[in-house]
Amino acid sequence: MQTTFVMIKPDGVQRGLVADIIGRFETKGLRLVGLRQLTPPLEIAEAHYEVHNERPFYSGLIEFITSGPVVAMAWTGVARNIIGPTDGRTAAPGTIRGDFAMDIGHNVIHGSDGEDTASFELGLWFPDGLVDWTRDAEAQIYE
Ligand code: RTP
Ligand code: MG
Repeated sequence: MQTTFVMIKPDGVQRGLVADIIGRFETKGLRLVGLRQLTPPLEIAEAHYEVHNERPFYSGLIEFITSGPVVAMAWTGVARNIIGPTDGRTAAPGTIRGDFAMDIGHNVIHGSDGEDTASFELGLWFPDGLVDWTRDAEAQIYE
């Protein structure tokens, strides 16, 4: 099963959305295997968004993501469709961005967009590894 790096961005933390966001993944049936709160150091932020370093929004994005605490998480199960597409204005209601975000930059949450980016991002944000546990309810959640 896939594990995704998910991060509640500084706007989501400041707006008090942490409990609601964690609850959405948890009640859907995903398994939390990593959790930490930190104000991202510049090196981690730059490595995380390196793929965008030529884009016009890059410096603003780095400034935003290092501006305050984020909640970094690792979730096992399908996470991307709970998050929704980048732009909060067009993201469907029912997704996190569709329900909480009104913009592209301040879009509350990040989720890795594929297996390769997930393993890179998990290694970057969780250098000590993840928590290996079995959620007993998985026998009920998955057929
Ligand atoms: P994320 O990586 O944060 O989950 O978002 P994403 O895959 O949906 O979007 P991506 O294209 O990877 O862009 C990364 C983040 O950069 C900011 N962004 N700003 N002003 C702009 O045009 C613009 N485009 C992207 C967003 O915060 C986006 O989540
Ligand atoms: Mg992305």
